[in-house]
Formats: sequence, C-alpha cells, structure tokens
Amino acid sequence: MAKPKIYVTRQIFDEAVDRLREATDMKYWDSEMPPPRDELLREVQDIDGLFCLLTEKIDAELFDAAPNLKVVSNMAVGFDNIDVAEATKRGIPVGNTPGVLTETTADFAFALLMAAGRRVSEGDRYTRAGNWKTWGPMVLLGQDIHGSTLGIIGSGRIGVEMAKRAKGFGMNIVYYDVIRNEEREREYGATYCSDVKELLAQSDFVSIHVNLTPETRHLINADTLSGMKSTAVLVNTSRGPVVDQTALYHALKDGTIAAAGLDVTEVEPISMDDPLLTLENVIIAPHIASGSVVTRTKMSLMAVDNLLAGLNGEPLPNTPNPEVRG
Ligand code: GLV
Repeated sequence: MAKPKIYVTRQIFDEAVDRLREATDMKYWDSEMPPPRDELLREVQDIDGLFCLLTEKIDAELFDAAPNLKVVSNMAVGFDNIDVAEATKRGIPVGNTPGVLTETTADFAFALLMAAGRRVSEGDRYTRAGNWKTWGPMVLLGQDIHGSTLGIIGSGRIGVEMAKRAKGFGMNIVYYDVIRNEEREREYGATYCSDVKELLAQSDFVSIHVNLTPETRHLINADTLSGMKSTAVLVNTSRGPVVDQTALYHALKDGTIAAAGLDVTEVEPISMDDPLLTLENVIIAPHIASGSVVTRTKMSLMAVDNLLAGLNGEPLPNTPNPEVRG
C-alpha cells in the first residue's frame, strides 16, 4: 500500500526525520527559514499530513488548497497560528506539544525575569562599550528578586512552574486566571487576584502565561500598564500580541515601569526599526523559551506521534480539537 504523503515545513531533528521517512512519503522543506506562502500552498496540494511550526498560518485558504489533508501537527504547544475551529469543521485533527516544554519555558521566563530585573544585558553592553571604569555604588542598580512579589498571569502548567521557581527564590506570589486553583494556592502560598489590575498594582515582577485569544489580545495595554509600579518588570514568554507593544514602548521610555524581558513580540521577527530596540531597559529574545536541545527534540518527536496517529485514523495523543476523533 502506498505510504501517506506528508510535508514538513522546516529543518527538524534527524530522529524525527528518520521516523517520518520510514512511515511516510515525505516532502521536506529542509531549511532554517519557513517556506514562502505560495510554496506552502503548492506543496500541500496532494498531502495527507502536514508537520508545521508556529510560523505557518494554517487557515481556510490552506485547507482549500489541500483537499486530502487528514491531520495537521504543529510542533508547538501554542496553536494560535491554526484556525482550529475551521479544522474541526472540516474534520481535521490538529496536534500540539504540551507538557514537554513546561519546565524549560519556565526556566527561560525566570532567566528573563532575573536578567531584566538585575540589568544583566545592559551590564554586558556597558562592559563591552568600555564604560566599566571602577566599582560604583550607583552603577546599574536593579530590583531585588528575593522578597519581592511576582504576579503570574495565567496559572496553567507554565504559570505553576513559575510559582515553583519563585517560591525557591523567596518571592511572594499572586496570580490571576479566569479559573481559581485553591490547591495550587496552598502548595505555593499564592494569593488569587480576581482582577488583572489588582495583580498589576501589587507586583514587582509580572510574568505572562496565557494563550493568545480574543480575550487576552492586548491584555497589557496603556491602561493596565499605568496601574503598575514604576519599579516593576514585565516578562512575556507567551505570545507577543498579549501585550500592546506600542504602549509598552511608551511605558518603558517614560518610566511607567522599570524594565521588560520579552521572548515574543507582536510581529515576529521584530522589525529592526521597531522603537523598542532603541531602549536599554528591555531584553528581547528571539522566541527561544522552549529552546533546549532535549526539549526541542521531545517536541519534534511528540509532533511525529501526533502526525502518525492522525494518518492512521487514531485519536491524537495531544490535540486541541479531540472532538474530531472523539
Ligand atoms: C512556543 O511558543 C510554543 O507554543 O511551543
């Protein structure tokens, strides 16, 4: 029997490629850059399965271009690049990769929190620029992490791992979510805020861990930023559009808040003429929070499992639309 046809939209780990080659008739966009849209639309015409990344927009136009498509497997936990409702309507299961990246992502969010709070990147630039002339009592003073309050927005898996790290650092923890989790509150000594503004007003550090939805788009905006402490540090490792980036630029520039650590931006990659890049008090990483060798390998293998299950007509091990394969 002919093997199912698939398309893989980026260079991935050999282990994942080997498994896919064995089980499928695979077309491979073996590049560090994503395929251009017209190439993608052409390549999906005869495929049964698509292995894609968060850089690919998977929408009605793509589904129309791929009449045989039986499964879409996204190598990411987030799936805001995919019109899941449209996939469900067409009976196409979607795969994602939750769980395996939780701790790695929380590690990185904590790294950004510390680096932005203690001005690590600025310090490095200062040294390299030859400005380190002496030990100075006022040089590059930052915010203490221990004893401060961390506000966690979104208490899913990654938010909970942030709480665990914050507890180890002696931070007080407040959190906001639409759903209250009293068991976690007891475990981490966290206090629930039913309103995001209540959380922002008391937090020294704020870390965002929500999905991008119509409700969370620009959750952090000029109005909510204005209620933060002037010493506060904002960390975003979720999705860029959760923060209104223009409002953040103004808040960082005029001292409404002290600093920010971002792994995600409203448009990715950030444009080199974006005004945020002119500021010293923001760290911008290129969407690498889940980027450890072990975790990215696990994500790619998990995405392979989802894809092969979908091609075999089985329920996907991890999927945001399980109802398709009930
Ligand atoms: C990365 O941002 C992911 O969603 O996995």
